[in-house]
Amino acid sequence: MKKDEKTKRPYVICLMVTSLDGKILAEKWGDTPTVNKLADKFEIVQDRIGIPAWIVGRTTMEKDFTDYAKPILKKGHHEISREDFVATHNTKRFAITIDGSAKLGWEEPTIGDDHVITILTEAVPDAYLAHLKDIGLSYLFAGKTVVNLEVALEKLYSLFGIEKLMLEGGGKINGSFLNEGLIDEVNQVILPMADGTIETSTMFEIDAKKKKGGATLMSLQEVRKIEDDAVWLTYKVVGRE
Ligand SMILES: NC(=O)c1ccc[n+]([C@@H]2O[C@H](COP(=O)([O-])OP(=O)(O)OC[C@H]3O[C@@H](n4cnc5c(N)ncnc54)[C@H](OP(=O)(O)O)[C@@H]3O)[C@@H](O)[C@H]2O)c1
Repeated sequence: MKKDEKTKRPYVICLMVTSLDGKILAEKWGDTPTVNKLADKFEIVQDRIGIPAWIVGRTTMEKDFTDYAKPILKKGHHEISREDFVATHNTKRFAITIDGSAKLGWEEPTIGDDHVITILTEAVPDAYLAHLKDIGLSYLFAGKTVVNLEVALEKLYSLFGIEKLMLEGGGKINGSFLNEGLIDEVNQVILPMADGTIETSTMFEIDAKKKKGGATLMSLQEVRKIEDDAVWLTYKVVGRE
């Protein structure tokens, strides 16, 4: 399903698991069997939606997937043109991130069965690109110094054929997409628990100085009670006030 034939970008579905108070940081909820079973609802609902391309912010990627690995720069002198690099991949499963300043360290081009695509700006070092080429990890340029999310989405569609994309946090990347009007559907899984802290991130976080317009309006499509008293809400985005 394509959002808009003119722009040819993926249909973007945001999926987040939250507490009743809309907080998203699972590690603050305690590392107990009960909490872990609740937090597992993310994978369960993700599998039920069944879309094999997902995108997360740089912070989530390094915390949950690359274990804070430092960027690797290939030794020697390299001059790499700012052309998108589509590495060989025999899969339609994609793990995607936005890393405009090349802060993530990559040793392999895959996460599990998923081929990694990193979205960069043209300002990243040539030696960083040379390393990504060596390991066969795909990269896209979406801006000279600042990431343009719309350009990134259009390239994911045109270069990789991604028609549907799961946007999976954290709050900052979700907020960036929301602010640009690039989310089509929101799936929120509310767990039967309250976080209660002020500082914990929420589902959408937009810098007040960058915020465009008023609230984003949604229409409720489905309410499902799932295992362990969790509630799975599906909304379509209608527009902004
Ligand atoms: N409960 C859940 O369902 C769930 C799901 C996912 C994540 N999480 C949690 O959320 C936390 C991380 O959330 P977060 O909000 O701090 O970080 P995040 O959204 O994962 O990543 C934010 C970073 O992504 C990059 N980014 C985002 N929007 C961008 C844009 N428009 N242009 C360029 N770069 C952009 C920036 O990287 P630079 O700073 O390098 O520019 C930014 O600092 C983690 O603790 C994670 O475990 C929870």
